[in-house]
Amino acid sequence: MCGIVGYLGARTCAPILIDGLRKLEYRGYDAAGLAILDASSGNGVNGEPARLSVVRAVGKLSKLDDAVRDKPIAGTAGIGHTRWATHGRPTEVNAHPHLVGDVAVVHNGILENHVEPRRALMGDGRKFASETDTEIAAHLIDIELANGAPNLLTATKLALARVRGAYAIAVVSRKEPDVIVVAKSFSPLVVGVSDDEVFAASDVPALLAHTRDIIFLEDGDIAELRRGKVKVERLLVHGDGATERFSVTPVVRKPKRIDWSPTQAEKQGYKHFMLKEIHEQPMALEQTIRGRVLLEEGDIVAGEVGLSEDDAQAIKRVVLLACGTSHHSAIAGRNWIEAIAKVPANVELASEFRYREAIVGEGDLVIAVSQSGETADTLAAVKDAKKKGAKLLAVANVVGSAIPRVAHGSFYTHAGPEIGVASTKCFTTQLAALLMLAIYMGRRRGTLGRERAIDLLGRLVEVPALMREVLEGSEACSKIARRQLVATEAKDCLFLGRGLSYPIALEGALKLKEISYLHAEGYAAGEMKHGPIALIDPQMPVIVVAPNDVHYEKIASNVQEVRAREGRVIAVVTRGDATISQVAQEVLEVPPVDAELTPFLTVLPLQLMSYYAADLKGTDVDQPRNLAKTVTVE
Ligand code: AGP
Repeated sequence: MCGIVGYLGARTCAPILIDGLRKLEYRGYDAAGLAILDASSGNGVNGEPARLSVVRAVGKLSKLDDAVRDKPIAGTAGIGHTRWATHGRPTEVNAHPHLVGDVAVVHNGILENHVEPRRALMGDGRKFASETDTEIAAHLIDIELANGAPNLLTATKLALARVRGAYAIAVVSRKEPDVIVVAKSFSPLVVGVSDDEVFAASDVPALLAHTRDIIFLEDGDIAELRRGKVKVERLLVHGDGATERFSVTPVVRKPKRIDWSPTQAEKQGYKHFMLKEIHEQPMALEQTIRGRVLLEEGDIVAGEVGLSEDDAQAIKRVVLLACGTSHHSAIAGRNWIEAIAKVPANVELASEFRYREAIVGEGDLVIAVSQSGETADTLAAVKDAKKKGAKLLAVANVVGSAIPRVAHGSFYTHAGPEIGVASTKCFTTQLAALLMLAIYMGRRRGTLGRERAIDLLGRLVEVPALMREVLEGSEACSKIARRQLVATEAKDCLFLGRGLSYPIALEGALKLKEISYLHAEGYAAGEMKHGPIALIDPQMPVIVVAPNDVHYEKIASNVQEVRAREGRVIAVVTRGDATISQVAQEVLEVPPVDAELTPFLTVLPLQLMSYYAADLKGTDVDQPRNLAKTVTVE
């Protein structure tokens, strides 16, 4: 978690760093800080160190912003950090940057072997100001410089050879005010380049206001950033990290041009990013579909997936791995893959899969579904599956992120940056990607005929327009949220669905929990009699996802069972519904659509209801308590 930024150029850097951190605030908001070098007071040469100012504040970034406004800091090079606490409480001393001697460090990740070195260094008389693992890195770099390392780059390499774990790190020194050293191992880090400036950040949106030319660093990369210049080397540590044995090889990492505009990463007049992202879904879906659907041939263009006809035929089983919302889209993906490509498919929580002795290997196609492409559990699970011989495919949103980089092939959702912690547009675009993959496989395996494919794809391209229709009815969702979830002071909610509506029930419940802090359970409606029915009473809203599909009659019976126990039903049904609408207290209609495509529409009222319930309750919708957008630690 945590977000880091860096800037080196001719401009005053404090506002640039704060602006970058604002775009990364979704990564952590326990504390924030800056370290800024002012070379006008000394250029590091001939023993004249530059002034290095460190300012830190606990709480949201606005606190740091206020501090910097009250006391502006001069300087054109610096690093910044927004913290999501892992080691040590959210206090000012634990906030980054950590300053030791001439060196300041910001870090995202966890240094696993920090306990022993800390003890050893304390034994040598070193004083630690914080409880963090990061401070170890600052001490180690300082020690290497004191021991004669010729420059910051070498000192950082020597120090990193002694740590183990996940990190994205940025380092500056009073002695070298024209350099920032950055390094990456398992935590995300990108570098932005322009003619006379250089930037670093945990994520692309932090840089888009300044440059679109982005270098995606790889694990093991260490880079020396100078104005307009980036030197990258690959640091290979041999042994267990306890010694200093390592090798360094220069590498070339070419910048990629990113086509997200800076305004795409802003709120564009919506009260919250989440609301903006809910309304962006039709456009996002168009972006996912664009250029990939061959309507007349009933096929999908997906060269980057790297699955030949022979590969597709050879697949014996598909295993979908994901966490959270991505796990829910993966459940729908499993249903489509089995129904369309006729191949056995399992879906698993990556956090469970990675720690059991899962049997996976040759003949298996593992599909990792991840918005960020950086989720630690998903990354570890897929690496393991790859090692055991499975073919690996990533469905991700962030181009060049860790999971696509380890995968044999990738299918990007192209949803644009998702800033709200609660995932919305990335869920529906993942659905589209997985459906297209099922069609792609079905065509190559000969299980999906051309005519049926043309029909299905023809309907898929109409989905964005249908989504717009649903989103136009957002006011009804707001009213129902007020009446049924907020005014009644509901404490618990049950979400029910069957078939493709089951993952939608799970997703509806997750959205409500995440942002409104109401307890909610998503359940397969057929399981209701096996337990949850005991919960039904007049207080608990039961949200039923009941589009017009093969499960309709069955779920209508579930609704009757709830009503017979005086339960309150909010039903999401197909327009024109005559049965459930008669008995439900509240009805939200979606337009008629092919049964396979209902999830794209039925999830929208649930996202909107959760959003409005949270907004009415006054919670922090975009940065809900205790949550971070990308879970890069276990
Ligand atoms: C979604 O609303 C969540 N915040 C969370 O469950 C998320 O989907 C999960 O952490 C997985 O993230 P990923 O898609 O980036 O791997």
